[in-house]
Amino acid sequence: MVTIAVTAEPADEPRVAVSPETVKKLVGLGAHVKVEAGAGARSRFSDDALRAQGAEIVATAADALRDADILLKVRRPSAADVAALKPGALVVAMLDPYGDSAALQALAGGNAALFSMEFMPRITRAQSMDVLSSQANLAGYKAVVDAAAMFQQAMPMMMTAAGTVPAAKVFVMGAGVAGLQAIATARRLGAQVSATDVRPAAKEQVASLGAKFIAVEDEEFKQAQTAAGYAKPMSAEYQAKQAELVASHIKNQDIVITTALIPGRPAPRLITRAMVESMKPGSIIVDLAAERGGNCELTQPGKTVEHNGVRIYAPLNLAGDIAVNASSLYAKNLYAFLETLIDKKEKKLAVNWDDEIVKGTLVARDGKIVHPSLQGA
Ligand code: NAI
Repeated sequence: MVTIAVTAEPADEPRVAVSPETVKKLVGLGAHVKVEAGAGARSRFSDDALRAQGAEIVATAADALRDADILLKVRRPSAADVAALKPGALVVAMLDPYGDSAALQALAGGNAALFSMEFMPRITRAQSMDVLSSQANLAGYKAVVDAAAMFQQAMPMMMTAAGTVPAAKVFVMGAGVAGLQAIATARRLGAQVSATDVRPAAKEQVASLGAKFIAVEDEEFKQAQTAAGYAKPMSAEYQAKQAELVASHIKNQDIVITTALIPGRPAPRLITRAMVESMKPGSIIVDLAAERGGNCELTQPGKTVEHNGVRIYAPLNLAGDIAVNASSLYAKNLYAFLETLIDKKEKKLAVNWDDEIVKGTLVARDGKIVHPSLQGA
């Protein structure tokens, strides 16, 4: 029998790696699921609800880790937790593979096979395992809802006997998964929405959501998407042209949602101090790239700062603010991956180390970092 451990996350992480729904499915695969008491509480998954689907609720993390074949986490686990696992056990989590490489090396030394869900290849077969998409989608939604709550004006146009309230102008920078959901959400709230990106594929997607696409569409723009579907870092020349365009557009915006990221690099700086100073007092910037340093020059990750009446909100874990949905989707992403690692008939681990999704996500094995993107890190 495959034993799966789920332990509580740190204080700043409300999500959890399992849900009542996935406990049931994992038990259906023949697994024994041990969950640390209270681990699901901040996602509103009570111990009783997890137990009712077949989980064993244990008192401490150590109880869960003992004899486990697989440890499921949201965040990178501690080195002590990994050391408590038996050699060769699997750890599946969002390991933040580009963050704190010394700590990642130490984690690899625990002899567990470490899988980083952020590295899941973006291929059709792995769509149900794509944690970046499931979490970014929710974050994009929440960014707009939070901005609307902070904004002391209405989002939709309202025609009343006393006069007309204009629609808020929302500008979304970076139209990937989070950005597209932000566009859709802002449109539902009645805002007038525009968006930008450097990938040409984004143009049609933005238009199909009823927003206006604004970008420097030169030769470099036509080449800006990598084979993996991500953006490339842009040249200084492109950045200068983009900054000019953004500067003229942003001064008329009420709410700006920034989501621009390039894998493994600091977030591109798209909004300068001067651009913030050109905006009207009361405008809101939500910087979803805060975890990678932010898209705005004035962003302070994890804080809300006010500059000339413009508030810059830079949350570090927006998906965690809607933990019920975020945990449910994340747990399902993990289940979809685990289903490929477990032999249901034999009820044992059966990892195909040559599988594209295993090779894509495997960060460390037998004490060593093995992922090509992390070599030399
Ligand atoms: P991401 O989180 O890495 O970046 C967010 C957005 O920022 C991207 O659209 C990127 O082009 C944009 N960006 C980067 N630098 C920029 C700059 N200087 N100025 C303006 N925008 C900039 O990307 P995300 O959201 O993970 O999606 C990347 C792509 O992958 C999208 O095309 C998405 O549709 C695709 N995708 C494919 C999946 C699949 O086939 N299984 C699943 C999920 C996404």
